[in-house]
Amino acid sequence: MTKPSITVWALAAALAATVLTSCDGPNAKKDAATAGKPAETAAAAQTPLLAAVPPMGFNTWNKFGCDVDETLIRQTADALAETGMRDAGYKYLVIDDCWQVERGADGRIVADPKKFAGGMKALADYVHSKGLLFGLYTDIGPKTCAGRPASAGYFDIDAVTYAEWGVDYIKVDWCNCDDLDAPAEYTRFRDALRRAGRPIVLSICEWGRNDPWKWARGVGQLWRTTADIGDNWDSVVWIIGANSRHAAAAGPGGWNDPDMLEVGNGGMTFDEYKTHFSLWAIMAAPLMAGNDLRAMSEETKSILLNKEVTEVDQDPLGVQGEVVIERGYGGQVWMKPLADGSKAVAFVNYSGGELAQYVRWSQIGVPAGPARVRDLWAHQDIGVHTDTGKHYNERFEVRVPSHGVVMVRIWPVAAGN
Ligand code: GLA
Repeated sequence: MTKPSITVWALAAALAATVLTSCDGPNAKKDAATAGKPAETAAAAQTPLLAAVPPMGFNTWNKFGCDVDETLIRQTADALAETGMRDAGYKYLVIDDCWQVERGADGRIVADPKKFAGGMKALADYVHSKGLLFGLYTDIGPKTCAGRPASAGYFDIDAVTYAEWGVDYIKVDWCNCDDLDAPAEYTRFRDALRRAGRPIVLSICEWGRNDPWKWARGVGQLWRTTADIGDNWDSVVWIIGANSRHAAAAGPGGWNDPDMLEVGNGGMTFDEYKTHFSLWAIMAAPLMAGNDLRAMSEETKSILLNKEVTEVDQDPLGVQGEVVIERGYGGQVWMKPLADGSKAVAFVNYSGGELAQYVRWSQIGVPAGPARVRDLWAHQDIGVHTDTGKHYNERFEVRVPSHGVVMVRIWPVAAGN
């Protein structure tokens, strides 16, 4: 016997809403599902804090583009569990564009029946059985960036469908939306998710076009700040600069998203990928792996599975680190304060040759005196370094390879210890 869906009533309400609302454009007022329902407002107010730390996981787009199917997703779920990625925090497995082909007569979005023959519910169940969370992709407009059917006109039906399938994360893109009001549209999408009743992370993907750092907190849990990343050093450098401008907006429950990781995709050197990953961690960015997890080199694993670096990203204080020293010849020093009173510090070298770089404790908020230093890539204690603030030769110095990074964590040694 078929068990009636728990969300049949909600789907019915959503369909009614769609009949009354010709288009999910600026006509928010006409949305029947929101009208005169104070109970729903109360429920929304109780929504638990999602993404208290930046989301971590995997997304299909950077490596696989439209070449996605359920075999890839199942194998990736297995790989997340078997490689230690899941246990390192990579919990969300997200299918990006191209899983959807049409809308059914009932208005529901239809997954590609050839590539996802078992259906999304069964796939989500499999992902959940591996101790992971499941994510999908859509777009605010009528079509996704790859031209697949998207959510305009169907926010409520889609939200209910996702809830029924067991979706935990939805990335919502902005193609074909030029004349729409981004804060209003994403807020209505959020409200549809709330009405559907399942906590679902909302990943806002309007590429920083409408200054999301000013309005997206409380609407979604992460918001893209830039155009798409490419698997090359210039793209990473450019994104670091753009994303660094919005540090004040980040914090528990809402994160600047400089786009998904390219680590392991082949277009950068080992040092460049380490810099990419270190800076994403220092900037408290979502860490969504974008490589083939079924075939990772040891080098790639040593980056994505560097727990000392992911801990910096996931630190519960939730501060986005910032540049504290800008050197004119290609050196930069970043600092992210951490919950235990320590500081994560990244020395970056954008130049073509090796650079010696240094800091004084006063420049990174470490009190004058001794502090314990650990190298987060060498996985080695460097020892206790003392900078009393009185002598220039007490500076802490490292040598950084071209396009590379040295990342350390510094714990002040309290007086008397
Ligand atoms: C946009 C997004 C990408 C990806 C593609 C899919 O370009 O910014 O991250 O989702 O669409 O088509």
